[in-house]
Parts: sequence; structure tokens; C-alpha cells
Amino acid sequence: MEQKPYRSIPISPEEITPKHLYQTRRQFLKQMGIVGLGAFLAGCAPGALESTPGTAAPGSDALGDALTDYDAVTGYCNFYEFTTNKETVDDLAQDFITQPWSVTVDGLVENPRTFSLDEILSGFEQEERIYRMRCVEGWSMVIPWQGFPLHKLLEEVQPTDEARFVAFTSALVPGQMENANSDLFPFPYREGLRLDEAMHDLTILATGLYDEPLPPQNGAPVRLVVPWKYGFKSIKSIVRISLVPDQPPTLWNTIAPQEYGFYANVNPNVDHPRWSQATERRIGETGRRETLFMNGYAEAVGSLYEGMDLTEQY
Ligand code: MTE
Repeated sequence: MEQKPYRSIPISPEEITPKHLYQTRRQFLKQMGIVGLGAFLAGCAPGALESTPGTAAPGSDALGDALTDYDAVTGYCNFYEFTTNKETVDDLAQDFITQPWSVTVDGLVENPRTFSLDEILSGFEQEERIYRMRCVEGWSMVIPWQGFPLHKLLEEVQPTDEARFVAFTSALVPGQMENANSDLFPFPYREGLRLDEAMHDLTILATGLYDEPLPPQNGAPVRLVVPWKYGFKSIKSIVRISLVPDQPPTLWNTIAPQEYGFYANVNPNVDHPRWSQATERRIGETGRRETLFMNGYAEAVGSLYEGMDLTEQY
């Protein structure tokens, strides 16, 4: 049998919270009439739902952090092709047409292929992943995603030996995206990963959240989620994935390279030139919490960066 050229790096089971656990919490909140209020404070969670760090408790991530309320996850979004206002994206994006949809995977691959949305949804087993998301702006959430590891899709197309990076491109539909022709942003939105980062099992293509199809404002119908990197790496509404030999240009890095690095691993010790990254505001909580190195995923992904100077990621 032919040897697969790239191995994915497995993640620890604690990183994944099974669906029934967070559903228990959502059901509980529904019964209490809390889901939908949007102002649920994690600190108000009843004792029975509290958890020990390191174990996944109902409705929490692997560190025991409570899920961010559904209304906040879907009502406070960054999707600049529609608007720079986080609180109106949901309205502006609601008529975004996401069916039919396809994702072309090309470049340095043995089997270039265009996947229809149906092929993406039925061809790859959809899993539950609860991840922390830390935006470079200093806020964070805990989100239950549905999706599948990106490496499964890449294994289908088989990157060639020359492939070193993966370049992602978002859809750009001026008729449907109010800010598509903005002078400030060189759309389409583009992002990139090193191939080994893309092959890591923590890196997923998300197709849903809270057990519902991905809402348009969160990047329907398929987006990237890379939980140890600042949120801007997690590109939405993907139409193209290209395997390339060199580090690809990315939107934020092109606009302001001194502020937004290509790697953008969450790092409390490296401040953004205009603000500190030491702490963050977890949406739904009062006060600020300390930001974790690599957003708390260093044990799983740290080996990817051995030998790299992590004080120079910007
Ligand atoms: N992808 C596209 N195409 N356009 C965007 O403006 N914003 C990024 C990222 N992906 C963005 C994008 C930023 S800055 C963040 S923090 C996350 O999406 C936000 O994801 P969320 O709105 O689902 O929380």
C-alpha cells in the first residue's frame, strides 16, 4: 500500500467535548429560559455544571470554560466583506446565498478537485469540536463547532512533495456583500497556513455551530478554524484552497505586516503594536482573563514551532 506522504498530528481526547455534553447544557439553559437572552454570564452557571480544569464538563471546553451564548456567537461577528460593524453583520449577511456552493482544491496536488457542498457535508464525517477563539482585538469566545479535520480533505487531493503552504480564499460577491468594494480592504479575503499546520488535527473546516448549519455571518457554508491562532486566520466562506510552494500573501498581513503576522499564534507575551495581548475579554463575562500561550493549545501544537523565535511573530 502506498505510504501517505503527510501524517496528521493527533489531538488529545480532552480537546474534544462530545455533543451530548454541551447539548445537556443547552437543553438546561432552554428549560431555564436563558438561551436567547444573550446576556448569560458564565459566572452564573449553577454548581452542577461547574467543571474541573482539564476535564470536559457539560457545556464547556477542555479547560472547563463555559460555552459562549449562541446569540453572542452569532450576533457579534467579524466579516468585513459585509461591514466592519460586528453587531450588524448578522442582519446584513442573512440573505447571503450559500447553496449551490463549491470549494476548489488545486495547486501542488496529485488530484485537483472541486468539492460541492453536498460532497463536503456527506463525504467527510462531521465531528463536534469545542474550541476557544481569541480575536486579535482582545476578545474571546468558546464555540461548539461541527466540522472535520482539514487534513482529511487534503489527503483526498494528495499534496505533492513541493507543497509547503496552503492558501485559502473567501467568496467575494459584490451584489450580496455590502462592503465588497471597500477601498480599505484588498478583498477577496485571503489567509494561509504552513502545510504542517494545515495537517494538524486541531485544524478544522467548520460547517456548523451549536449543532446547526453555519449561519452566514459566521462564514457559511464552510470556514476554517485554527484555535491556537488569532481569529483572523480562521477564514470564512471558503471557495478555494490552493497548495503552494511559498508563504502566500494574506489580507491582514498585506495591509499591516507590522501588526498582523503570517503565523499569528496567540501569545500573551507579544503585544500588538497598539495594545497589550496579555489579557482578554471573554464575551459574556465581566472583567478580563489572562490570555493563554497559543490560546491554551501549546501542548498539542508547540512542536510545530520548535526552533522558531516566538517573540517575533508579528
Ligand atoms: N473571514 C472573512 N472572509 N472575512 C473576515 O472579515 N474576519 C476574521 C475571521 N475570518 C473575517 C474572516 C476575524 S478578524 C475573526 S476574529 C473571525 O473570523 C471571527 O469569526 P466569528 O465572527 O465567527 O466569531
